[in-house]
Order: sequence, then C-alpha cells, then structure tokens
Amino acid sequence: MIYLDNHATTRCDPRVVDAMVPWLAENYGNPHSGHALGVESNQAMHNAVEQIARLLNAPSDSIVMTSGATESNNLAIRGLCTHPRQKRRHIVTVSTEHPAVLDVFEDLQKHGFRVTRVPVQQDGRMDAGVVDLQKLEEAIDDDTALVSVMWANNEIGAIAPMKEIARISHSRGALLHSDATQAVGRIPVDVLDADIDLLSATAHKLYGPKGTGLLMVGNSNRRVRLNPQIVGGGQQRGIRSGTMNPAGIIGMAAAMQICADQMTEHNHRVGELRDRIWMRLNEAIDGLHLNGPALDQEHRLPGNLNFALPQIEGQAWMSAVPQIAFSSGSACSAAHSTPSHVLTALGISESRARRSVRFGVGRFNQADEIEEACEVLLEGHNQLLALAK
Ligand SMILES: Cc1ncc(COP(=O)(O)O)c(C=O)c1O
Repeated sequence: MIYLDNHATTRCDPRVVDAMVPWLAENYGNPHSGHALGVESNQAMHNAVEQIARLLNAPSDSIVMTSGATESNNLAIRGLCTHPRQKRRHIVTVSTEHPAVLDVFEDLQKHGFRVTRVPVQQDGRMDAGVVDLQKLEEAIDDDTALVSVMWANNEIGAIAPMKEIARISHSRGALLHSDATQAVGRIPVDVLDADIDLLSATAHKLYGPKGTGLLMVGNSNRRVRLNPQIVGGGQQRGIRSGTMNPAGIIGMAAAMQICADQMTEHNHRVGELRDRIWMRLNEAIDGLHLNGPALDQEHRLPGNLNFALPQIEGQAWMSAVPQIAFSSGSACSAAHSTPSHVLTALGISESRARRSVRFGVGRFNQADEIEEACEVLLEGHNQLLALAK
C-alpha cells in the first residue's frame, strides 16, 4: 500500500509512539489522583500542555485538551453561542468548512440563531477556495457573536489570510474561531500574531495519535466565555470534564514539536513530491483539471493535490488501484455519494466534482514510491479508459 491520504490522517511517528508508551504501560496513574503515580503523570501532562501552548504562541492556561477537532469545534461554537451571557444571535462561517463546523451551525440555526455562510473565491483564481473578504465584511454586523473560518482546507489545501479575517471579525466586536486542523503542524500557526480567539486542532493530522485534540480558548486580547458541553468531574477548570489522557497529550506535544522542528525542510520536500505527481499525471493524461488554489506555498498546503480527470469518476479510479490510498472527496464525507460541497462551492460542476480526487503527500512518502504510485495510477486509468470504450 502506498499511502497518499495524509489529509484524512497520518501515521503516528515512531518517535511519538516512544514518547507515549511509558504513560500507558509504566506510569498509568490517573492524572487527577493525589498519590505519587497521579502527581507524576499530571506533571508530565502539564508540561506537555505548556509545550503545546508555546508552539502555538498561546497562553498556557488557554489550552483545553479534547478528543479531537470535532469535539473542539463543537465546544468552541456551541459553547460560545449557548453561554448564558451571550446576547448576540448571529453567527458567520464559510461554505467550504468541514462538517464538524457546518453541522454545528446548522443545528444552532434550528435553535434560533441567524446564520450566514460566506462564499469563497471561485475556481481558476490563484486564491480559489479562500473566503471572499469583502462578502465576509458585509456579512458581519453588531449582532454577530462568532465568525468561524478554517485556517487551511482539508480538500483543496487553500490557506486563509487569518490576520485579515481577525481584523474584519473584531472590527464589529465578533470573536473569531478557526478550525486549524489541517494547518497546525503543516504551516506556521501563531495565535497571538494572527489574533485568533478560539482555535481547534487534532493530533492525528500531524503524525500524532487519534483521539486527542485541543481547543485554544482566548489569547489574552479578549475575554471568551464558553458554556461547557461535557460536564462531570470538573477537570480542565470545568470547561471539559473527564479524566485527561496523559499519553495522548504527551504524544500530541511530541508530534507538534517534531513538526515545528522540521517544517521548512519538510514542506519543501513534500511540495516537490506533490509537484512530481501532478507533473507525471498531467503529462500522461490529457485534460486534467486542477481544483483549488495555485500550487505554491502561499496559497496551498504543500502536500495537497486535488484535480479532476477528464472522463473517469474518482471513485472508479480508487477502486481500480486499491494499492494506492487516496481519496475521492474528504474522508469524512466519503460515505455519502453526493459530490464534495467544497468543490461545488468553488463553482465546479457536479460532474467534474465526481471526477475529482485528492492526494495528500506526507512525511513518510519517498521519491521512489511516488514514481511507483504514478505508474500504478496511470495503468489503472488506462484500463478504465479501455473499458469505457
Ligand atoms: C478541517 C477538519 N476539521 C475537523 C476534522 C475532524 O477532526 P477529528 O477527526 O479530530 O475529529 C477534520 C478531519 O477530517 C478536518 O480535516
């Protein structure tokens, strides 16, 4: 199997596994227990949370650990909107967000919130997939409680200008949440510099374990009040109850540190491998159509590639080459046969969206397997074309 689906998830780095194992097998103390085993695991976990905060340039007491970005998004959006002191009743997001944001907005809309979904720049532009800043500005009013904009898109890799989005959001007194699940560990994320109020991330997209994520709450410039969504033992200052997960949290910190240490070199290498796939396939198949922003580091995540085939459906190509892991939409929506909402939001037709595929190149990919993958992909494509004749 050649794994080219690093936007769906990533392999846990062996160095991360090594950092986690002692906190599963040796010191298994409940970090909230008062005895030595608990105190030791609490201290190690606390150090890991501080390290995570430093890597995001966030205050150390602003980090709430969760089970992943879906939970973080729910806590950020629902938590803010349902707080008893929340008076504003309008919330704003973008049409290309992940379902872990869009579905929360839909639910709040059913409960009386006014919702605006802002469109994105259309396909064919360098900044395709980036929220239309003018429309965003027009959408926000004095009743807007929250703006939620993802930092980088999971299907087309479009990178949002978060500093500008923060300025626009704050100008009318709204708070800004960013689902930075695809950005943290891949591109520099500095919450203080970008002035983000709430930020979600998850470990399994950055070579860490599944089931561990974080929500950054408040960057010290503005007060953020959240209504807890999970109540119980009162852990994490009551914002998110439940026994914390020392191994997962220590693993996430280790994973984020490795990403930060290697980011420039990693992005250069992964970008070259991504470009190689695009070049090989584009040379061999007439009429490939790139979906989303320009293939450069300013506009697009370096490992991301998304394009439409001229004749074959993405799902059929995937089935024809089971030895290559890639995706015909986002992993989270692959169960549905509807074309990707991200691609159609870019103005791409339903037919072209169905002929689209997404590749995500990552840390463990090597140049020789990229060559091999391209050969297998082209062979599968030619077989499908011959069958279609
Ligand atoms: C942009 C984005 N947000 C949220 C999620 C959900 O993250 P998790 O699997 O940690 O719940 C994903 C995962 O696909 C994602 O890509």
